[in-house]
Amino acid sequence: MNIKRCAVLVSGGGTNLQALLDAEKRGELPHAKISLVVSSEPAAYALERARKAQVETVVLPESDFYKDAYFDKNAYSQKLLSLLRQKQIDVVALAGFLVIVDEPVLSAYRGRIINIHPSLIPSFSGDGFYGLFVHEAALKRGVKITGATAHLVNEITDGGKILLQKAVEVRKDDTPETLQRRVMEEAEWIILPQALEMVCADCKSQRKDGAPSCISERSST
Ligand code: GAR
Repeated sequence: MNIKRCAVLVSGGGTNLQALLDAEKRGELPHAKISLVVSSEPAAYALERARKAQVETVVLPESDFYKDAYFDKNAYSQKLLSLLRQKQIDVVALAGFLVIVDEPVLSAYRGRIINIHPSLIPSFSGDGFYGLFVHEAALKRGVKITGATAHLVNEITDGGKILLQKAVEVRKDDTPETLQRRVMEEAEWIILPQALEMVCADCKSQRKDGAPSCISERSST
């Protein structure tokens, strides 16, 4: 079987990384091998989870790429791309990664980067919508159903092709924190592993340039 080398990119607690590691251990990711964890935060607990699972870790601190108050996202992505290439990574999963992934990573890994977002896109998505802010906005708006979305990553924040979504009921007494936890448990931790397996299984053939040919952003399946 053609097994893809996957990198998981993290910035925080890493519960979604844990869901991926657990799914792999249970044999639910037959086309994927979680081979690398990259963190933008040196103190991220996700790194501990990776080490416990004996997965290689690399810290690429976001703070190293600030010049005055300006974050050089292109320089960050250049560095990230050389790392992904050096480690022969085929597929990338963003699991609570708080750095915007930019060119040249987007072009090199088109159709091969997935993200988990804690809402039913297109609601509560795009620039500024991440983590607890998403759930605060959902509660403020008064939606009765929210959820999570696993999608491909492109130039538009949270704008890539949707792979999987799962709905979660909002309760009357929910706080942003309780809602965040339930969306993780009932949606994110389920659909992120499924989406990673879906993309890896789809990467069957090798393109002429050596890169695997993966899910098309334009296909309707
Ligand atoms: C998750 O809820 C994930 O959906 C969210 O950050 C959290 C990371 O938690 N991502 C975004 O908001 C991206 N826009 P984790 O580190 O425990 O996996």
